[in-house]
Amino acid sequence: MGDDPASRVYVNNKKKACAECGIYSEEYALPGETSQEELLRLIDTLNKKPEISGILVQLPVPKHIDEKTIINAIDPKKDVDAFHPVNVGKIMVGDYDFVPCTPAGVMELIKESGIDVAGKECVIVGRSNIVGKPQAMLLLHQNGTVTVCHSKTQNLKEHTRRADILVAAVGIPNFITGDMIKPGAVVIDVGINRLENKKLCGDVEFESAKEVASAITPVPGGVGPMTIAMLMKNTLKAAVING
Ligand code: GUN
Repeated sequence: MGDDPASRVYVNNKKKACAECGIYSEEYALPGETSQEELLRLIDTLNKKPEISGILVQLPVPKHIDEKTIINAIDPKKDVDAFHPVNVGKIMVGDYDFVPCTPAGVMELIKESGIDVAGKECVIVGRSNIVGKPQAMLLLHQNGTVTVCHSKTQNLKEHTRRADILVAAVGIPNFITGDMIKPGAVVIDVGINRLENKKLCGDVEFESAKEVASAITPVPGGVGPMTIAMLMKNTLKAAVING
């Protein structure tokens, strides 16, 4: 809904990924002034539409729309973002079909790099519902020792310097610098920030961090493409679940 330029890019990338995977997709680009009732009616129609397995409402929604009401309206069986409270609860107890796409992408990067999470100090900077909180659960399910830091955390550097696996998801450009990283740590940068010069950069200052880390993800090109890949995986699962 509306004309958020970042959302436009994300939605285009998701549509492109669907086309590449052979997944049929429909886009409803609603004007910013569309009413909440109208958006809810569309979600209800898609909930009932048998040829649609997965529904995603690209966030953020305009201010007059209540994000929680919208997320709650999506059929949990079609909630490929895993934002519905039913799916959030399932992740909490470790019995889930859909995994939130960005934290799932981070886990896949860790696994594919042959890194064992069990017993490791995992520090997440950021506590959002989309990344920080579910990321903590996924790392915990893999037996990591998990710390979640946020804007009120005191002595942040003391925490980040303990991390064997450091996940940065604060949304502040170049916030994590090399001196905040333990030598040999695995650093995963979830941030996508657009600088005034239009360049994309992460939450980690790549140049100083890469000198200290044993592995590090770039921005763009690190976690971003993984998020989309995980969305495709959730959508395929949804197709199986919904028959
Ligand atoms: N806005 C930023 N990240 C996301 C995401 O993962 N899903 C949706 N629906 N909106 C977003």
